[in-house]
Amino acid sequence: MNNFDFQNPTKILFGKDQIKKLSKEIPSNAKVLLLYGGGSIKKNGVYDQVKTALANFEVLEFGGIPANPEYAVLMDALKVIKNENITFLLAVGGGSVIDGTKFLSAAAVYEGEDPWNILKNSERTMKGMPFGSVLTLPATSSEMNSGAVITRRETKEKLVMGGPGLFPVFSILDPQVVQSIPEKQIANGLADAFTHVMEQYLTYPTGAMLQDRFAESILQTIIEVAPKIMKNPADYNTAANFMWSCTMALNGLIQKGVPTDWATHMMGHELTALFGIDHARTLAIILPSHYTYNFENKKEKLAQYAERVWNVTDGTLEEKAKAGIEKTKTFFNSLGIKTSLSEYTNDYKGTAEIISKRFTERGWKGLGERQNVTPNDVEKIVEMAY
Ligand code: NZQ
Ligand code: ZN
Repeated sequence: MNNFDFQNPTKILFGKDQIKKLSKEIPSNAKVLLLYGGGSIKKNGVYDQVKTALANFEVLEFGGIPANPEYAVLMDALKVIKNENITFLLAVGGGSVIDGTKFLSAAAVYEGEDPWNILKNSERTMKGMPFGSVLTLPATSSEMNSGAVITRRETKEKLVMGGPGLFPVFSILDPQVVQSIPEKQIANGLADAFTHVMEQYLTYPTGAMLQDRFAESILQTIIEVAPKIMKNPADYNTAANFMWSCTMALNGLIQKGVPTDWATHMMGHELTALFGIDHARTLAIILPSHYTYNFENKKEKLAQYAERVWNVTDGTLEEKAKAGIEKTKTFFNSLGIKTSLSEYTNDYKGTAEIISKRFTERGWKGLGERQNVTPNDVEKIVEMAY
């Protein structure tokens, strides 16, 4: 097992009607900016619950943060923060609203010239403006981690940022919010969280027994709840298991002491940037090709995954490993998620070269747990995913 430091300062308030506790978590003298997305919170009652809980606070609002939070929109929110002397940010939404809020937390105290540099130059944020979240969509774990992904339509870029200053102070996780989520977004949440675990688990064996078992148990729980939550998002207990699995998938715990991959995410982000494909779906497109292309490097873990998560007991190590890739594809398909790029766009020719070139230009020489997936490999993997 590798050495590690682990600190996750986010306070979680999990369960039914926890939104009521909001007022106790925000400093009483705070000037709050409530940030939200396209308006789902106004239809499902979350907005009203938040407003009631914040009745004694000075609250301004900024709505309209789109899925794949857009830089230009966030820059408008930044003006409000500065002009109105906001002191606390409250994200009410899914990963996009929370990520957008993280960017604002960083940009609000940024001393550099242009906040875009935070993303362009991967400048880590050591201390941001404090913020909390009320999660409305289980998927990203943004509610309990310090990373964010921001999109800029103008240049078709989607870049990551983060730093220890970007953990939410608190996040409220009420599984009752799941009942209003459209089926397509539930499928996205399941596939995204599943892939988060895979990125931290499906590498090479390091004898980290507990991390492996943590990862496998989250995968198994997601597999078990998937058909139930797709069928009935109002089933509270299933929603609770779905929500907590998604949070645990990327709150930092399972990646401690082990190598991590993240190549699927890096390639996937480019597909969202270029074609606007939902984040989770880009992962389902890339993951099977990435694992097939890097089969030799990953086959031990793939076989362990097939055995322990999917109960594949027959065959050689290679056969089990291959079965693991197939099972994953079938799982994505069972969520109604297609796994080839050509099923999303007719415009796919040339994509592999574009992405490979972008990685070269950014100086990304080697991705993956061994840092050996070169831009040339990326080109082949994306091509395999057509
Ligand atoms: O905008 P509104 O109207 O609120 O509707 C949203 C949005 O259209 C809707 N929705 C959310 N909660 C709902 C609901 N509809 C009905 N009832 C509810 N309770 O769902 C749609 C999608 O929301 P979004 O926030 O975009 O989804 P998600 O949580 O999947 O976030 C995706 C973003 O997170 C990034 C992705 O790249 C993408 O930009 N990621 C962030 C990560 C992180 N911070 O650690 C890691 C991930 O790998 C990912 O990259
Ligand atoms: Zn993801």
